[in-house]
Amino acid sequence: MPTLFGKRVLLGISAGIAAYKSAQLARLLKKAGCEVRVIMTEGAQAFITPLTLQALTGEQVRTSLLDPEAEAGMGHIELARWAELIFVAPATADLMARLAHGHADDLLTTLCLASEAECVMAPAMNQAMWRHPATQANVATLHTLGWRLLGPDGGEQACGDVGLGRMREPEALIAELAEAPAVRDAEALRITITAGPTHEALDPVRYLSNHSSGKMGYALAAAWARRGARVRLISGPVTLATPPNVERIDVTSASEMLAATEHAAAESDIFIGCAAVADYRAEHVAEHKLKKTDASETMTLTLVKNPDIVAEIAARSPRPLMIGFAAETRDVERYAHDKLTRKGMDMIVANDVSQAGLGFGADDNAALLLWRDGDDTDSQTLPPQPKTTLADAIVDRVLMLYAHRASTAHD
Ligand code: PMT
Repeated sequence: MPTLFGKRVLLGISAGIAAYKSAQLARLLKKAGCEVRVIMTEGAQAFITPLTLQALTGEQVRTSLLDPEAEAGMGHIELARWAELIFVAPATADLMARLAHGHADDLLTTLCLASEAECVMAPAMNQAMWRHPATQANVATLHTLGWRLLGPDGGEQACGDVGLGRMREPEALIAELAEAPAVRDAEALRITITAGPTHEALDPVRYLSNHSSGKMGYALAAAWARRGARVRLISGPVTLATPPNVERIDVTSASEMLAATEHAAAESDIFIGCAAVADYRAEHVAEHKLKKTDASETMTLTLVKNPDIVAEIAARSPRPLMIGFAAETRDVERYAHDKLTRKGMDMIVANDVSQAGLGFGADDNAALLLWRDGDDTDSQTLPPQPKTTLADAIVDRVLMLYAHRASTAHD
């Protein structure tokens, strides 16, 4: 693990049941060649003893800010300067709130505030606490303060709940810590991405929609953000967590998505329409639940066309570089090419959504990229792969196109 070897790591442990995993983390950090010092909050000591961590790291474990003996050795400011990496695992909801608000009311929060080290945390808490708007607001603040969040993961929790909130497993955390930082080649770019489905109401309890999970659009948002771009994600109803450093705007219907997009696109360099926007909506949304009648075996709904978000934004001047998607089940290239031209896009990402294991709802996808090059169309085929890596390949191509357009605009 070349990027961890020799690194001076402060491992901060706060008061969660996942603290038992911190012993394994300390062991793996040592094994990876790190110098490790451990700070425990008062509550953490109810879950795991300082002695365990001392035995694993060979270093005295610090637990108190006001400990004259420990301060006489390496004072807390010295310790803050010593660290190259502060890794808080587990990070409880309470600790995250205190860090987000700049508290310095115990040794761990004081060190975090006093240090200029790289800061990473592995959140762990009950799923409802993680989803709470207060925690999500703290997550957004922590991102802007430069914290990198690893996890939490979903699954069954110690309290019996199921959902996002489990601390990521130590082996996975160590692998992520060792990852080379992403190349920040999209800094200064402002990106707007639409993702997920839209819901078009029929009555107070029913709607028209499709199987989009948002995974592709969210993977793109995460990839752009990792590479330093300012990302606004306009999301239809999905159950995914917001990627780090991404501003998310939730919408439900196509009309709401258009309204949110119009404003965001005006301030963007690049627009990516990955959402599966419903083409039609009900002409009239019933005020009360539609009732089944015995009089007829059929029901007729009158649908009207929704606005085409990509086409509307592409028709503006000035406008961002326009990237759209095409979800096709046959004649992929022909239909995609038609949409590229008809909707006035600069590039289209075509996916064959009839293939098992790819497209709607899947973790993997494949794509044919088509972009305009003067009067010609150029293309690139991206084979089946996880949506996360496909997103990076799409970003690579969009960046090339953006740079090319910028250079020819100045000629
Ligand atoms: O969300 P996932 O489960 O990860 O699945 C990913 C995906 C299959 C949804 C994604 O890869 C994809 O193909 N997204 C576009 C789906 C779609 O609606 O395609 P389309 O061919 O119907 O639309 C063409 C383009 O016009 C798209 O960029 C779409 O966002 C846009 N559009 C369509 C209709 C409309 N009213 N407004 C639009 O802006």
